[in-house]
Amino acid sequence: MRIDGRDYRTIWLDESGSQDPADARVRVIDQTRLPHRFETLTLDNSDEASRAIRDMAVRGAPLIGVTGAYGLALAAAADAGDAAIEAAYEKLLATRPTAVNLRWGLDRVKALLLATPVAARAAAAFAEAGAIAEEDVACCASIGDHGAALIRDAAEKNPGRPVNILTHCNAGWLATVDWGTALAPIYKAARAGIGLHVWVDETRPRNQGASLTAFELLSEGVPHTVIADNAGGHLMQHGMVDLCIVGTDRTTRTGDVCNKIGTYLKALAAHDNGVPFYVALPSSTIDWRIEDGVANIPIEERSAREVTHVSGRAADGAVTEVLVTPEGSSARNWAFDVTPAKYVTGLITERGVCAASEAGLRGVFSDLAG
Ligand code: MRU
Repeated sequence: MRIDGRDYRTIWLDESGSQDPADARVRVIDQTRLPHRFETLTLDNSDEASRAIRDMAVRGAPLIGVTGAYGLALAAAADAGDAAIEAAYEKLLATRPTAVNLRWGLDRVKALLLATPVAARAAAAFAEAGAIAEEDVACCASIGDHGAALIRDAAEKNPGRPVNILTHCNAGWLATVDWGTALAPIYKAARAGIGLHVWVDETRPRNQGASLTAFELLSEGVPHTVIADNAGGHLMQHGMVDLCIVGTDRTTRTGDVCNKIGTYLKALAAHDNGVPFYVALPSSTIDWRIEDGVANIPIEERSAREVTHVSGRAADGAVTEVLVTPEGSSARNWAFDVTPAKYVTGLITERGVCAASEAGLRGVFSDLAG
């Protein structure tokens, strides 16, 4: 995507000109600084990759998976022995528990590493991480094409006015390597000239909607309005939402989806009001081992400070954090919730739109289902 006239992906290899994997450095956009500052970070080693994931400099399920893959490659560049690789794998895996893409990316690179002679491991791992990144871009572009067809259908049903789409959290290009999942159909439809408008849930407590989705849509020139998290039900009751599209951090084989906290409430409101509720995902987000998402998907609980404090830009330009609760109130911070498949109208995948069910997913991904 273009920022200030320059094309960016969310993660890339620093071009030092050296062919030696020991010199490789990974660059990412520091998403903790957005929307107020556009800054990049250099990840020199596997520990820095772990920190970037844990502190959410990089976030979003697909991007976490790709960063994990590069993190393991950085580990192999420092020490390609089995013990060092195993230790880095465990450390990277422990950074964030919910998005299954992290395990998926790490497993892919680790399997290759262990099957490769030690001297060739680091180069092989960087090549594999790069391949995972390229596949993610292709998957997201394809999700965009399939999802844009749904938006086109909605536009044809309501000629003469824009299609109103509600999204939650940030499932745009910042959450992937490029394009995004839930936002890819929006970008493709907008570029095809379909009139649309996006309702952007602010997505407390970390405000990924207000800070990241709004930043993306503004940069791309897509009409949008940021709304308080609790506004969606009201808008749906008044016919102001034509469809919802969100992402997912882990999708069970039965089509339950785990996404940013608050997604479930939007799905309930959509169900009550007959608003189609679509979830966009690459196949790397499917956890074929799990049947019941509510019972079995690990839900990350983050620092209560994210609830008790908000940060923003003050009039003098400084980014500051302020307390919004009484000192002494306790707070809890679950980062994700599970929306059962029965509330999901369809899954927008890189191979097409399917039902949120085991049969639906197997119909599209019979080769992956095992
Ligand atoms: O906590 P985050 O910001 O990593 O959560 C991101 C989301 O919940 C996204 O919707 C999800 O990863 C799907 S992204 C393509």
